[in-house]
Amino acid sequence: MLEQEGLLLKSSFQLSIFVGFLLHSLAISEIPLGSKLSVVDKNTWVSPNGDFAFGFFNRTDEPNYSVGICFNSKSIPLDKQTVVWTAGANIMVGENSSVQLTQDGELVLVDSLKGDTVWSSRTSQLSVVSAALLDNGNLVLLNEEKHNVWQSFDTPSDTLLPGQNFSTSQMLRAASKNLVSDYLSSYYTLWMNAYGQLQLRWESHFVYWTSGSPPSSNLSAFLTSDGALQLRNQNLQPVWSMLGADYNESISYRFLRLDIDGNLRLYSWVEALMSWRPVWQAVENQCNVFATCGQRGICFFTESGSPDCKCPFNLVNGSTEKCLIPYQQCESGSNMFSYKHTFLYGMYNSSDDLVVPISLQECRSLCLKDPLCTAATFSNDGMPQCSVTKTQYVTGYSDPSLSSVSFVKVCADPLAVNPNLSHVIPFS
Ligand SMILES: *[C@@H]1O[C@H](CO)[C@@H](O)[C@H](O)[C@H]1NC(C)=O
Ligand SMILES: *[C@@H]1O[C@H](CO)[C@@H](O)[C@H](O)[C@H]1NC(C)=O
Ligand SMILES: *[C@@H]1O[C@H](CO)[C@@H](O)[C@H](O)[C@H]1NC(C)=O
Ligand SMILES: *[C@@H]1O[C@H](CO)[C@@H](O)[C@H](O)[C@H]1NC(C)=O
Ligand SMILES: *[C@@H]1O[C@H](CO)[C@@H](O)[C@H](O)[C@H]1NC(C)=O
Repeated sequence: MLEQEGLLLKSSFQLSIFVGFLLHSLAISEIPLGSKLSVVDKNTWVSPNGDFAFGFFNRTDEPNYSVGICFNSKSIPLDKQTVVWTAGANIMVGENSSVQLTQDGELVLVDSLKGDTVWSSRTSQLSVVSAALLDNGNLVLLNEEKHNVWQSFDTPSDTLLPGQNFSTSQMLRAASKNLVSDYLSSYYTLWMNAYGQLQLRWESHFVYWTSGSPPSSNLSAFLTSDGALQLRNQNLQPVWSMLGADYNESISYRFLRLDIDGNLRLYSWVEALMSWRPVWQAVENQCNVFATCGQRGICFFTESGSPDCKCPFNLVNGSTEKCLIPYQQCESGSNMFSYKHTFLYGMYNSSDDLVVPISLQECRSLCLKDPLCTAATFSNDGMPQCSVTKTQYVTGYSDPSLSSVSFVKVCADPLAVNPNLSHVIPFS
């Protein structure tokens, strides 16, 4: 038991009993070589301040486990103890799995289902003598000189914690919507480009948000404990900052996360509400996050700020994930649907898009006849105007006060019209 005192190796249930006296006797908890955690033992390594724990957790309804770092503070209820880092991103293992700091100084995750190592810190050549989970949530491997030769902060998952650097060599990737069945991970990522600007991308090349920072090299992004996201130069001077709504207020816990919906948000723990509150998000209107409504859905702004997705081109059982593009599917020619009081436009400028001063009827037939046109919007505020969109990524807004009418190309063959799409009316 003595040699385990330094470990804080306990089940989370026993924690509240033991942490108190152990913390007083330990400045830093060192995890020695040979230490092991397993799913069945439910044991964890806890930071000296108790704020973070490293161990196995389950984010699914199946017996599928990930190993990583979660909030662990007693002031945060269990279901709000958010995961901040996972080993190997989406790797999941079975219920008899374990993770061990080997005698070689390597942290290895062994999957009981595969009977094999599925993830490793690859540090066997770096003379590691111990590990530690620091108070800021960083899991580090240390050599004899107490130098940090590996840290979880260098390979973020979807979250950055205060004190963590993020630069051109790193990436945040959103968690996938369905952790068990999605073998593909999410397409949403955060990168820093060569000019030191943060960018949100879809499928690694489609940029849908860029931070407003002036182009500069050798920058790193940094979340401060008072709630600012900064881009700092080599002298650690901020060259760009974004302040959360509660900047400089006394907040115990904050984190920045690339969420499943592709938006980047800064969260604060609000003690009074017992919940995480978003105090900033990169893309103000969720409809401007690439592919919010799948690849063929139309995203409508709503007052509440959450997007309303409709699938007007062609419907497969109302699922926006399965919205079809028009002409590829149309064997019997095309038709136009109209949306009253609606303005539609291509999400991303295409050089093919055009605006022409023609009538409502002409606008409709112009799009119908143009094989590349996917949608068109007619408006008339003194001057008739028809905006033709040729991209398949269409978004828009709808409001009773709008006089504009939008047209969407659909197949002429028997249309599977979703009755829930109340403001889709066949144009005649
Ligand atoms: C999840 O657990 C089930 C049941 O043990 C297993 O068949 C499946 O392979 C696991 N999936 C993953 C992604 O590990
Ligand atoms: C962050 O970067 C600064 C400057 O390069 C460095 O001094 C500091 O140790 C880094 N922090 C972590 C946690 O890596
Ligand atoms: C960026 O860092 C590299 C390597 O440290 C250095 O050679 C280069 O001069 C730096 N660039 C700027 C603009 O500071
Ligand atoms: C932050 O708050 C402290 C006092 O709580 C105040 O002295 C300081 O000016 C504030 N800084 C900013 C930038 O608002
Ligand atoms: C739509 O749903 C019904 C019943 O759920 C199913 O039988 C049918 O195959 C589905 N159609 C398509 C095109 O997926």
